[in-house]
Amino acid sequence: MRVPLLDLTEQYRLLADQIRAATDEVLARQRFILGPKVEQFEKATAEYCGIAHAVGVSSGTDALLAVLMALVIGLRDAVITTAYSFFATGGCIARVGATPVFIDIDPVTYNISPAALQQYIEKCCHEVEGKLVNQNRQMIRAIIPVHLFGLCCEMNEIMNIARKHNLLVIEDAAQALGAEYPFADGTAKAGTMGGAGCFSFYPSKNLGAAGDAGMVVCSNEQLADRLRICRQHGMEARYQHQFIGGNFRLDELQAAILSVKLPYLDNWSAARREAAKFYTEGFRQAGVEKKIQLPAEPYLKRGLKNHHIYHQYVIGSSDRNELREYLTKREIGTAIYYPLGLHEQECFEYLEYKRGEFPETERAARESLALPIYPEISREAQQYVVGCIAEFFG
Ligand SMILES: Cc1ncc(COP(=O)(O)O)c(C=O)c1O
Repeated sequence: MRVPLLDLTEQYRLLADQIRAATDEVLARQRFILGPKVEQFEKATAEYCGIAHAVGVSSGTDALLAVLMALVIGLRDAVITTAYSFFATGGCIARVGATPVFIDIDPVTYNISPAALQQYIEKCCHEVEGKLVNQNRQMIRAIIPVHLFGLCCEMNEIMNIARKHNLLVIEDAAQALGAEYPFADGTAKAGTMGGAGCFSFYPSKNLGAAGDAGMVVCSNEQLADRLRICRQHGMEARYQHQFIGGNFRLDELQAAILSVKLPYLDNWSAARREAAKFYTEGFRQAGVEKKIQLPAEPYLKRGLKNHHIYHQYVIGSSDRNELREYLTKREIGTAIYYPLGLHEQECFEYLEYKRGEFPETERAARESLALPIYPEISREAQQYVVGCIAEFFG
C-alpha cells in the first residue's frame, strides 16, 4: 500500500468549483495586486484569530522579514529564537543584519525551552539603562518563539520573561494557524499573544495556498500601518519611500483561493487531530509506545478546541534512520523536520556555536520523524503505517 506523506488532491476535488469561481472572478476583474480579495482575506483572518489587524504578505518568510524591518531591528541588535525550526526563522534575523541567538528546546514538545531562555538571559545578559544587552554588546530586541508542528509554545512563561526584560515577542506561527494556548484567564490563538504573529500559507500548511503566501497579524494599529507600507518597498505616497521595505505583497489570486479554504480550516484541523489520536492509540495497542517518543499534548485537558492542530505528527526514535528506510521500502512517505539544528547550519558558522551546545535540539534532529498526516488520510492507510512500525520494532 502506498501512503504519501501528504495528499491534497481530495481536498481540491471537493473545493474545485468554488476555487475556480473565485479565481475566475479575479481574472475577469484583472486586478491582481492588492485587490478586494486580499482585503477580504485579511479581514477574515483577523476575525478568525480574534485580533484587530491582519496584513497579507507574500510568504511566511516575508512575514517574519517584514515584521523585523518594520520594527527597525537590525545591526547591533540580537534576536532570540529556537535552535530547532525551519531555516527562515533564523535566516530572517540575519538578513536584517541582526544576530540570531539560539536557545535549546524542550525535549517533550520540541518547542523553545522557557527554562533555557531564562538561563541564557541570566548567564549571558545584563541590563543597561533598562535594556537587555548580551556579552557581545548587542541589544536583545525580541524573542521569536516558533509554534512547531502546530503546538503552541509555553507562552505564559515566554511572555513573562519578555515583559520583565522589555522584549518584543514575534510569534512564528507559520505551522500553527488556529492552534490555541491556555492562559490562566482564557485562551488565545497562535500569533495573537505577542506583538506580532507570522503565518505561512505554503501549500502543505494546514491552510495552504496554490503557491506562496503569508500573513502578519497584530493588535497595534501603527505596526499594521507600517507593515502595509513595508510590503510596498516602504512606500506610502506613490514613489515616496519612507524606509526600506520590499515587495512583500500577498497575491490577489492566492487570497481568493485562501478565502475559499479558510472556513474549512477548523474542520481540517479537527480531522488531523482525529488522525493523530488514531496513530497514538494504534501505537499503544501495538505495544510500541515505549519504543518511540509520541507527540506531546500538554494542553489536552485544558478544554481548548484546537489544543494541537497537528500540522505534523512527529515521533522520535533512536533508530530513526533505519526506521525511515524500512518505511520507505514499504512505500510510506516520511520526512525529517529538521535534520540539523540552526546552530549547525554552515551559513551560521560565524556565530561560533559548537556541536553539543544544544543537546535536545541535536537529539531531535537525530531522532524525529514525521509520519503521513492530512485531514483525508484513511484509517486503513494509518493502520498500515502503525503495522509497519510495529513490525520494525517487533
Ligand atoms: C516554522 C516556519 N517558519 C517560517 C516558515 C516560512 O514560511 P514560507 O515557506 O511561507 O516562507 C515556515 C514554512 O515552512 C515554517 O515552517
